[in-house]
Amino acid sequence: MKSYVIEGGKKLSGRVKIECAKNALLPILAGSILTEEEVIIKNFPQIKDAMSMLEILKSLGCKISIDKDVVSIDSSGINSCEIPSNLTSELRSSVFMLGGLISRFKKAKISLPGGCKIGARPVDMHIDCLKKMGADIREENGVIICEKADVKGGKIWLKYPSVGVTENLIMASVIGNFNTTIFNAAEEPEIKDLACFLNKMGAKVIGGGTKRIDIYGVKKLHGVTYSPILDRIEMGTYLVAGAITGGEIEISGAQAENIFPIINKFCDNTCKVCIKNDIINLKSSGFRRGFKISTGPYPEFPTDMQPQMTALATVSRGVSAITENVFENRFGYLYELIKMGAKAKVVSNTAIIKGVSILHGEKVFATDLRGGASLVLAGLNAEGTTTVCNIEHIERGYFDMCKKLASLGASIKEI
Ligand code: UD1
Repeated sequence: MKSYVIEGGKKLSGRVKIECAKNALLPILAGSILTEEEVIIKNFPQIKDAMSMLEILKSLGCKISIDKDVVSIDSSGINSCEIPSNLTSELRSSVFMLGGLISRFKKAKISLPGGCKIGARPVDMHIDCLKKMGADIREENGVIICEKADVKGGKIWLKYPSVGVTENLIMASVIGNFNTTIFNAAEEPEIKDLACFLNKMGAKVIGGGTKRIDIYGVKKLHGVTYSPILDRIEMGTYLVAGAITGGEIEISGAQAENIFPIINKFCDNTCKVCIKNDIINLKSSGFRRGFKISTGPYPEFPTDMQPQMTALATVSRGVSAITENVFENRFGYLYELIKMGAKAKVVSNTAIIKGVSILHGEKVFATDLRGGASLVLAGLNAEGTTTVCNIEHIERGYFDMCKKLASLGASIKEI
């Protein structure tokens, strides 16, 4: 198992390179099987989740080649529609393969990894909605089985704007002689990006990134070269690194409108944030004020930034209230922050945090991706040495975190 060892107390400053968004990349990789022609993805970060998705594609029969940050996928030789549990256990997002497999091969069999550290993560909505569209699909002993999918589209209302369900339904609907309308769709920027990717392949997806998405089926899709949008959660994480150390961080290539819900909270925390074209600059005076967060579907505050902002709240003056509305079990990391001196308790789905002036170094354990990132951020603030164990969780979604933080002036090494 690998760890980060951090000597806290250094002010971080400088510009940090942001990778393309994990949550855009994963559905896009899944969508690459919708054509027999070559799909090329540029600016591909070799994060663990993306590599696991490539393993899944390979297991189905896709040919993959990687040259630095460019990956090419050739799905012409797919010879299986089955994803076994040894591959899905590495990646919950394997459920995103459902829509593509159903669309191109009319069948799929995907083992599910079950619940995860942040919640049960059921797949009932994926199944119910695909059934409504005409797929003969069921879940049996943790395996999603679709033996025959005669998808006919229609009007589908989501009872909750699930990101994954919206993406699966789009991918199941792009090829065929039928039209589909999704109401109450998730509006995340990554969905708009998936629609943009598919449209470049010849699909007709209208309204991606809004509550109503219309998909007009086409005969077939063709190959494409594509660069997914940048990662708003990675941006937010490095901005917290600036805020929690009293430093100054700059990010270029930002689509600022995508991260406004996050930026607003930094302003509440008294950071000075300047946005000019695609550059975001955050400057912290070192004084931090407590704030309130309530997570929800976009454009509400993203649950994937909740743990990192909670780390910031632990060293912000006054009382902060962080309410988690998306996943039922997303405060596991908080007990590790408490070991580092944070004063916090969880009441129902809200963490109440009384800010302290500084945390202290400790040996702590990452239990999930974003919770792990919050421990690293806390370690940057803490007095003394913090060892964050199990950083494999962090590597699922952050590329080169250790190098990037070191380049900003952090004292951090990987062991
Ligand atoms: C995606 C993101 C994840 C982010 C989440 C919410 C990717 C790869 N992952 O996950 O990082 O935290 O959106 O923004 O894009 N639900 C059900 N039944 C279902 C499906 C979902 O009850 O069939 C529930 C989930 O348990 C959760 C809520 O709906 O409580 C939101 O989940 P969803 O939007 O589907 O998240 P994901 O697509 O899994």
